[in-house]
Amino acid sequence: MKLKQLESLLGTLQQFSNPKIELEQYPTGPHIASRMLYTAENSFGDVTDKVVADFGCGCGTLGLAAALLGAEHVVGLEIDSQSLEIASINADNLELDANFVQCDIMNLGWRGPVVDTVVMNPPFGTRKKGADMDFLSVALKIASQAVYSLHKTTTRDHVKRTALRDYNAKSAEVLCKLRYDLPQLYKFHKKKEVDIAVDLWRFVPREI
Ligand SMILES: C[S@@+](CC[C@H](N)C(=O)[O-])C[C@H]1O[C@@H](n2cnc3c(N)ncnc32)[C@H](O)[C@@H]1O
Repeated sequence: MKLKQLESLLGTLQQFSNPKIELEQYPTGPHIASRMLYTAENSFGDVTDKVVADFGCGCGTLGLAAALLGAEHVVGLEIDSQSLEIASINADNLELDANFVQCDIMNLGWRGPVVDTVVMNPPFGTRKKGADMDFLSVALKIASQAVYSLHKTTTRDHVKRTALRDYNAKSAEVLCKLRYDLPQLYKFHKKKEVDIAVDLWRFVPREI
């Protein structure tokens, strides 16, 4: 599938109807989501025919992008049941197969490398300090091939150091820096658009 077609299909997805600030429910827009998954497949071969998990899947954008690119199996993990309902509707509308499971990533009972690739736009940790790094720590325990994740550019040195030293990463590479533009979702957002710089990372787990 071409990048433009992927972006356009992702643009049809329903997003959070009632976003919960305590869970940092910001959707990944179609521009970033399409490039993230397209790069994962076309530069690294990490999606097509692979088992892909979408951590904190929200309304399913990243997992469904993986399904559109021919992932063998997609599982979306999310703590919020309302978001999971929307994710299922999105999958049905695109006639895609994906499993959406309600769970807290912090209590995920999976052991060992049970999926090939994890994709995620974790909570940035503005509500629960360290949430982004907690997600990354779990992702690097259960992916055998690669973890793709978005993190604020301001945290770049910390993310790299911690992933390599403490989280079982063999490599940690920033693939590109992106402008994460959000529509005004919450009352405390003063501007119409909230604009922050984020890094798209690719981590390779060490073999266990
Ligand atoms: C920044 S949003 C990204 C949503 C979606 N992946 C996307 O790209 O549009 C982070 C998501 O993580 C979910 N989340 C937050 N804490 C979680 C936890 N402990 N376990 C599972 N999901 C969690 C939130 O509900 C939210 O949907």
